[in-house]
Amino acid sequence: MQVHRFEKVWLGAALLLIVGFIATVAYGSVGVGVAMVDDSGGQINAQAVQSGNTGTQFDDPGVVREGEDHYAVYVVARQFQFVPGSGDDPIRVPADAKVTFRVTSADVVHGFAVVETNINTMVIPGQVAEVSARFDEPGTYGLVCHEYCGAAHHTMGGSVEVVP
Ligand code: CUA
Repeated sequence: MQVHRFEKVWLGAALLLIVGFIATVAYGSVGVGVAMVDDSGGQINAQAVQSGNTGTQFDDPGVVREGEDHYAVYVVARQFQFVPGSGDDPIRVPADAKVTFRVTSADVVHGFAVVETNINTMVIPGQVAEVSARFDEPGTYGLVCHEYCGAAHHTMGGSVEVVP
């Protein structure tokens, strides 16, 4: 049987589209370069995160100075708060410094997004999501969980205070 040349071209195009769709689902919009499923910070035992004995900075989450111009923020997400970040415990970082957020979950899948920035990642139990940014402008930025995580998902949020 002979396959017509145009038919081959269209078959190829259809295959490319399917691969493209799968890639879009897995990695978000093409070209942004931020994987939606982010384990760039490595693996971690979610049960140990829950009980606070990971032997890592996640046992005492917060802001840690890592260098002259570099801060790391360890955040534990759990139903229904960010520690630190929620309630009267905002994440406080300096303006115009490199800030690396390392976020993990103690229970279910959460989201971690800082409003008005491109800081946006899924937070998956067992994995550490790592996102770096630099805040040019001091101010208060909203923090939201954007993955449905249970009955009080819509209340899960907080703030990031960028100080001069
Ligand atoms: Cu946590 Cu939605």
